[in-house]
Amino acid sequence: MRSFTYKELLASQFNLLPIAIYDAFPSVLFGRLLVVATKLGVFESLSEREQTSAELASSLSLPLKSIELMLPPLTATHYLKNNGVRYALAPQAAKWLTKSSPHYIGNFLAYIELLHSHWIYLEKTLKQGNPPKVYPEFFTMKEWETYTLGMMDLAKLIMPRLMPKLRLPTDVRTLLDVCGSHGLYSIELVKRHPNLTATIADFPQVLETTKGIISKHKLQHRISLVPCDVTRTTFKSEEYDIVLAFNIIHGFDKEGNKRFLQSIASALRLKGKVFILDELSDERSSGVNRVLPLMVGLNLLNEIGGSVYSFEEVRAWCEQAGLHHVQHHPLSLPGVSLVSASKS
Ligand SMILES: C[S@@+](CC[C@H](N)C(=O)[O-])C[C@H]1O[C@@H](n2cnc3c(N)ncnc32)[C@H](O)[C@@H]1O
Repeated sequence: MRSFTYKELLASQFNLLPIAIYDAFPSVLFGRLLVVATKLGVFESLSEREQTSAELASSLSLPLKSIELMLPPLTATHYLKNNGVRYALAPQAAKWLTKSSPHYIGNFLAYIELLHSHWIYLEKTLKQGNPPKVYPEFFTMKEWETYTLGMMDLAKLIMPRLMPKLRLPTDVRTLLDVCGSHGLYSIELVKRHPNLTATIADFPQVLETTKGIISKHKLQHRISLVPCDVTRTTFKSEEYDIVLAFNIIHGFDKEGNKRFLQSIASALRLKGKVFILDELSDERSSGVNRVLPLMVGLNLLNEIGGSVYSFEEVRAWCEQAGLHHVQHHPLSLPGVSLVSASKS
């Protein structure tokens, strides 16, 4: 919720505002409103036509008083426009929150709603240093799907920035996508490399959704799925030219990551390459680049006992696993980095 005026920003610079109230109340509630409004179809309905409050209340079968309380904050924060009579989508909502847009992130917001319900036990997590329960133990099949599609939206966002940095040798043949979820990265890479086949390893509940995505792309003959817990699986030794470990090290603790990197290294062929993608914390960064990875770390502790790590930590795990040429390639997205290392 970015609604500070210039005067308010200035006052905050001089510590004249109790920003804590703002951070703890309207920001949090607005985040809830945004995911609920998306879920209830506010943006989708307004993408079809501009509407008055009463028309939208009737389109969505919601009480008029709810609509009258939902639309003004969405307008004040520039998701909607209002000409005094009708509401319409502002560019932010039109680009990111409508299904017909290639930039749609509604599935990711649905996943965030799931996270909101877990933040209820954050205090307990912080007191214990570990969450009272971890998602693989309690997700319903519907929640696994929400998670997987949410990750897919995020991958769509990352892909255009990532692909120019993810250059594979032309003769690559085998790729292991560890914790590959929706499979979008494998799909894109096999499309770009005609001799490449990919293997996606993830929990069986996730791969139920992946199956459908792979068949939509008609790539069942080039992408195989391995339902497993990757922490208890031994991958084929020296089998893969490339291993992807995207958005996964944040889910393990330090010891878990040392073991994980060793298991990846042994799956790689000589001269093979591993690519690790994650939010990496960097004390030298500022603004969203600093705060987002830190919040991701806190959330990951609450979700699965994970954390956010620095490039130096990742480099040490790679080197301990016998990998070389560990390189850091920041992407131009807040906190997101690619790390590459090779086995030679
Ligand atoms: C944050 S998502 C990342 C998905 C994908 N790699 C991406 O970057 O979009 C993490 C994935 O790891 C999977 N995962 C986490 N722990 C796992 C484990 N122990 N065994 C198998 N899969 C696991 C989750 O099911 C989920 O699909």
